[in-house]
Amino acid sequence: MPPHPRPAHHRQRLGAVLSWVGLAVIVGVVAAACDPEEETGDAALAERGEEALIEYGCLSCHAIDDLPGPQGGVGPPLDGIAERRVIAGELPNTRENLAAWIANPQEIDPGNVMPDVGVSDDDAEAIAEYLQSLD
Ligand code: HEC
Repeated sequence: MPPHPRPAHHRQRLGAVLSWVGLAVIVGVVAAACDPEEETGDAALAERGEEALIEYGCLSCHAIDDLPGPQGGVGPPLDGIAERRVIAGELPNTRENLAAWIANPQEIDPGNVMPDVGVSDDDAEAIAEYLQSLD
């Protein structure tokens, strides 16, 4: 039987194209799994949180080593807060609880020494993200 070069040639081309498509899919999946987008997103949120924390005057009561402030010590220092299991003596240390506490400390524990500073929910979430980077 004589060879049929053209169909064979076509099949080869198709095979090559398919393996490139396969490779592209694999590269895409690996890139999505690493997701550098997500990390820059969180880092940007934490950075916004750091700025907000300074603007709201949290440092007038809370010390954080690398940040300027009177280090007055009315509230507990916030260095290493990501390592604490419980915050404000009663809440499991999750990002949601941190944000809730920062936005509404008087609602959570009426009469405690930390005042409501008027932090918006968005800012509270950013500050919580920043605090969770302090370990
Ligand atoms: C007037 C002083 C004061 C200001 C201003 C203040 N806090 Fe507090 N904060 C406290 C005190 C006191 C506590 C301890 C409350 C308790 O445990 O009952 C506390 C507790 C906390 C805790 C829990 C810490 C832990 O380890 O238990 C976090 C987090 C926190 N503050 C964040 C903030 C942030 C963020 C701001 C600014 C938006 C802020 N605070 C502003 C006094 C203050």
